[in-house]
Amino acid sequence: MTENKIRKLQQTVSWVKKFYPHEPEIGIVLGSGIGNLSREIEIEFKADYSEIPEFPVSTVKGHSGELIFGMMNGKRIVAMAGRFHYYEGYSPEQVVFPVRLMKLLGVKTLLLSNAAGGMNKNFKVGDLMIITDHISLFTANPLIGPNVEWLGSRFPDMSEPYSRKLIEKARAVAFKNSITVKEGVYAGVSGPSFETRAEYKLLHMAGADAVGMSTVQETIAAVHLGMDVFALSIITDMGIREEDNVITHEEVLQAAREAEPRLTAIFKALIGSI
Ligand code: HPA
Repeated sequence: MTENKIRKLQQTVSWVKKFYPHEPEIGIVLGSGIGNLSREIEIEFKADYSEIPEFPVSTVKGHSGELIFGMMNGKRIVAMAGRFHYYEGYSPEQVVFPVRLMKLLGVKTLLLSNAAGGMNKNFKVGDLMIITDHISLFTANPLIGPNVEWLGSRFPDMSEPYSRKLIEKARAVAFKNSITVKEGVYAGVSGPSFETRAEYKLLHMAGADAVGMSTVQETIAAVHLGMDVFALSIITDMGIREEDNVITHEEVLQAAREAEPRLTAIFKALIGSI
């Protein structure tokens, strides 16, 4: 089983190397409604997920499903336009396959983005939130199963999943670009149903400022691999709110699109500073 996992990864690495022999140093994952950031990349090579051996295919509206290689702000990067979610039916291991691939291609720093529901009363729709820590107990851990020592240790430390150094750099970059950013704890849940009022309240009481259906599995896999991680959420809806409104996927995508230029500016400047 372990050999099989390693073989699959190596096959995909060889396939990529045939077309793109360079080593990207930064990996980027673009969340729901955040695909436009890829316009900032000077593209050198890209592949549809359906072409890449061992890659699952993304099915969610708002995700294009391409792995893009190129330059951004002077750095060699690889970006996932569209990610794999646990709620789509992929195993947690499939969800993190691209993160492992990125590591084997040379990536040392992983930048994650997502759409998230806000629970902190000081947040509003359209805010950006730097993830300072996460709660992943409400979804499946991608490291369950036999550990592949070649990738990382059985019990990785999670005391600093999001690099303090990168958080500091992002704060500085946001300030310099006059972009307001909030900070907080992200709770990862499986979805696909949005949370009930009682669930938002519970997550908030548990210490979370925002909740979403992605990111934590990728972060855990990246920490296991020894990568530095930075993650930024767009608050696309408020879970704890006064009005009696319902939350829709369209509203989430719309809010993400509106906030995207600010997120892109931060990612671009942060990449330049790494
Ligand atoms: N809950 C979970 N995931 C989400 C939300 C939410 O309110 N908004 C965007 N992704």
